[in-house]
Amino acid sequence: MALFKKRGMAEEGFKILPEHIGIIMDGNGRWAKKRGLPRTAGHKAGADVFEKICKECGRLGIKEVTFYAFSTENWKRPKEEVNTLMRLFYDFLIDAKERLTDSGDLRIRFAGEREGIHPELLKLMDEAEFETAQRKGTLVNLAINYGGRQEIVSAVNKLIAKGKTEITEQDISSHLYTMPDCDLIIRPSGEERLSNFLLWQAAYSEFWYSDVLWPDFDIKDLHEALHEFENRNRRFGG
Ligand code: FPP
Repeated sequence: MALFKKRGMAEEGFKILPEHIGIIMDGNGRWAKKRGLPRTAGHKAGADVFEKICKECGRLGIKEVTFYAFSTENWKRPKEEVNTLMRLFYDFLIDAKERLTDSGDLRIRFAGEREGIHPELLKLMDEAEFETAQRKGTLVNLAINYGGRQEIVSAVNKLIAKGKTEITEQDISSHLYTMPDCDLIIRPSGEERLSNFLLWQAAYSEFWYSDVLWPDFDIKDLHEALHEFENRNRRFGG
């Protein structure tokens, strides 16, 4: 892993890489609209970019990357759009193990509430997690049915169930879905907000925004965000 990381850093000239990147894949609908296509076409194009960026993170030796794929609020979208997104997750997971081997042995993990997700999709997520668990490459967290507030509430409820009457920051951190503090949050599409993503983990995140719509997001955009990150002066409040 260390060697792999060094290689990626040296090749691209990065002095430092974020350990955990969060990516809000936004702008699929607008991308489709600009082309006179249904919104679902934007999501399909976005799924290809998701895979490309996963592989590039693997190639660079990024430790962990969390993709915001479906929020707890996204259920309110039209049924056809929700079904298309679920189908895309399904199609990706069905052979994800094979598809992600060529870029540093990526691992897959699910982050979100299981309730509400179709049992067949849950089964595939469990299998993908299990089958890639021993790998050493980038950990790809798929945030599906994910909400930052929901994540914190669920952590607190777990602590209450354990009989805790007083809690520390560490207690909450260790009862979240598992993602560590996030170093860099990338949001394309011109929107500059967090939208209930990684609320706890973003306490000291650096943010990188861009007008590019997610289906047009390219490896050069990722590199641009990473180069900007290495020049940020992070003080963590100190
Ligand atoms: C927000 O853009 C995007 C989503 C709600 C879905 C993101 C999901 C994908 C890109 C598919 C990922 C695929 C896999 C396999 C993980 P929007 O549709 O709200 O865009 P808009 O703001 O332009 O309408």
